[in-house]
Formats: sequence, structure tokens, C-alpha cells
Amino acid sequence: MSDMRIDVVTIFPEYLEPLNVSLVGKARARGQLDVHLHDLRSWTTDIHRTVDDTPYGGGPGMVMKPEPWGAALDAVLAAGPEGEVPTLVVPTPSGRRFTQDLAQDLAARPWLAFAPARYEGIDRRVIEEAATRMPVVEASIGDYVLAGGEVAVLVMVEAIARLLPGVLGNAESHRDDSFAPGAMADLLEGPVYTKPAEWRGREVPEILLSGHHGKIAQWRREQAFARTHANRPDLVARWQRESFTKKEREALSVLGLAWDEAEGRFRSVAEPVEE
Ligand SMILES: C[S@@+](CC[C@H](N)C(=O)[O-])C[C@H]1O[C@@H](n2cnc3c(N)ncnc32)[C@H](O)[C@@H]1O
Repeated sequence: MSDMRIDVVTIFPEYLEPLNVSLVGKARARGQLDVHLHDLRSWTTDIHRTVDDTPYGGGPGMVMKPEPWGAALDAVLAAGPEGEVPTLVVPTPSGRRFTQDLAQDLAARPWLAFAPARYEGIDRRVIEEAATRMPVVEASIGDYVLAGGEVAVLVMVEAIARLLPGVLGNAESHRDDSFAPGAMADLLEGPVYTKPAEWRGREVPEILLSGHHGKIAQWRREQAFARTHANRPDLVARWQRESFTKKEREALSVLGLAWDEAEGRFRSVAEPVEE
């Protein structure tokens, strides 16, 4: 049996072709991922195979009709393992943020069904009715609006699939990734280098050639602090004093970050203190 079953209902099954390529494609070929693509239009009943209609209350754009979605989800449920239900993942800019934590959570579930929409989204009653039958997660891949949810499905499936046991060649390799739970939570990974040691006059940081694992680990961690500080103040704002050793706090102070007891966060010493 595969580690995970994935169903995707879409009006553009061909948009999901990249699921045959690279890491996800190989996981499918090895039988770790069992992916089923469904064309929403197969559950339409009119000659034009209509999936959308004008919005109640007026306004621009069209809304996806409930009947084809309802029938499609019924069929997905019926096609899966007896007595089991999938977690329905609905990509939408108005959902909760799709994060590494959510990817980990979804990677632990044996069956996911994705409902990527087009137009202005799916009639709300479809999501409400589905939630009476299965867990539903509405998720956004970022603060921007795509034309449809298929690309969001590709993003989510790739992030989830690489967390499944045995999908990555080296099981350890996602442990040090940006956002990985544990030591990398709320941290971005620092820069990486490979051979040659000198390229166009630029040298690899000497510490990486030293063979001193402890010092290399410390250097990498400090680089992660610096990158996160430079690019993601929202992550720095979540750091807690006790997550860092004394030595690490010294490294943070070199970056100009000091713990502010009153505010309960690390603050850039260059930042003016709020009155
Ligand atoms: C044009 S968008 C609809 C946007 C909707 N009117 C709104 O403002 O929230 C059409 C579909 O693309 C997908 N989509 C667009 N942006 C997305 C995002 N940031 N994350 C996940 N899915 C997204 C969703 O499936 C959405 O229903």
C-alpha cells in the first residue's frame, strides 16, 4: 500500500502534469504516493458542461456551482478506502497560511483530497457541507491572488511529499531546512557552498573547510540568525530568549539584537524604544 493517497478535483487536470516529474514523480513511480486526478466537468449534467454561474448579490466574476463539486466529492469519497475519509484541502487566499508546520501536519495524514477553484471560488455551501463529512483545511500559499488553485496544489503537494518517509534520498535533509520544527523553527537557512573552493576569485568561507563539525554547526546557526534578521523581522519577533544559549545571544548582539524584557522580544538596538 502507498504511504499517501492524493485526489485532486480540477477543471484543468493537465495543469497537474508536473506531478509526474522529479521528486513527486519518482515517489509515484515507487508507489509511495497514489495520485488520482479528476476532471470536475465529468460531474456536470448539461451539454455545455457548466461549472460556474453569476454570484448571488451581484458583483464581478463567476462562482463555481455547488452541484458538480458535491457530486465530485461524493465520488472521491466512494473511490477511497472503505470507512475512511480524506482531509479536504481547499486552496484559497482567504485560508490559513500554508506553512511548514501545516505541511508536517498534512504529511502525517494517509489521504488528502484537493479542491482547487477557478473564478471567484466555490459556492460556500460546498465547503460547509464537506466539513460535516471530513476534516477541511482552507489554506493560502501566500498573500497574493492566483488565477486558480492548481499551482497552489502543486506547491502544497511538493512540500508535503518531501516530508514523507523515504521520499528524500537523505532522511536527514529536511531537518536543517528553513522553518523545520526543532532547532530551525522560525529560522531561515544560511548560505550553502560546494566545490570548487575558489570560483571567480571568491572563496568558500574557511570554516567550512576546517572539518571542525562543532564550529561549522555554530557558524551555520549564526548565518541563519543573520539571514532571518535581514529578511524576516516577523520571525525575529517570535524568538524567545530561552531558545538561545548564552553564546548564541552573544552572536545576536553582534547583529545588533538585544532581548527587551519589557516587550518580551528581541529588538534591534538601532530601533527607537517605544515610549
Ligand atoms: C482568482 S482566485 C479567487 C480569489 C477570491 N476572489 C479572493 O479574493 O479571495 C481563484 C482561485 O485561485 C486559488 N488561489 C488564488 N490565490 C491563492 C493563494 N494565495 N493560495 C491558494 N490558492 C489561491 C483559489 O483556489 C481561488 O479560489
